Amino acid sequence: MSVTGATRRAGDAASYWEPLWRQGRSYRAIDAAEAKVLREQLGEGGSRPALDIGCGAGHLTGHLVRLGYRATGVDCAPSAIAAARRDHPGPDFRVFDFDTDPPALLGPSAFVVITCRLVYRWVADKPAFLSRVRALLAPGGVFWVATSVHDPAQGPPKPWDAGAADIELLTAGWSTVRVNALDAAYRCYVLRP
Ligand SMILES: C[S@@+](CC[C@H](N)C(=O)[O-])C[C@H]1O[C@@H](n2cnc3c(N)ncnc32)[C@H](O)[C@@H]1O
Repeated sequence: MSVTGATRRAGDAASYWEPLWRQGRSYRAIDAAEAKVLREQLGEGGSRPALDIGCGAGHLTGHLVRLGYRATGVDCAPSAIAAARRDHPGPDFRVFDFDTDPPALLGPSAFVVITCRLVYRWVADKPAFLSRVRALLAPGGVFWVATSVHDPAQGPPKPWDAGAADIELLTAGWSTVRVNALDAAYRCYVLRP
């Protein structure tokens, strides 16, 4: 039986993602419009701590550092972290499975910004994931999620689109929810506790 990112169990994320990174897979780049939304919604970092979950090759983590955050990027795939360390000096990059590794390994302080770009769709246990994020977020912090969503004009949903129920779960229970539609199938959610 083939195991897809959609059906794998929590705890085996690296077995799915590591081969893709070894094959040289790349993902949607951060363009000028997304960089502008990041800057406007997150603001200046002032050396405060930020966490990028599923950082991949580290592009977003590098952006956070340029905004002035003290950024940590975590990814379950060692090859992604190796590429991130090579291409983006500045952030603290770590091999870390966000589903299963102890959050205490990320350090004692809460994060004023937590980002999660092109990852949420693939999270196996989303309620548990969201609980972990909330526990790591500082009071008044921001959870920033970028994801592909279904664009009916493009036909049936793509495997990498977050479903309507996933989005409902993601956006429930925050004091403010702001949605930036960068195109018909790509959204950035800015969530505040
Ligand atoms: C589609 S890639 C996106 C990478 C990056 N965020 C970007 O925007 O280019 C998804 C990333 O999430 C990572 N990932 C998936 N599940 C994870 C988990 N449980 N813990 C840590 N990283 C995870 C994968 O290894 C992969 O690098």
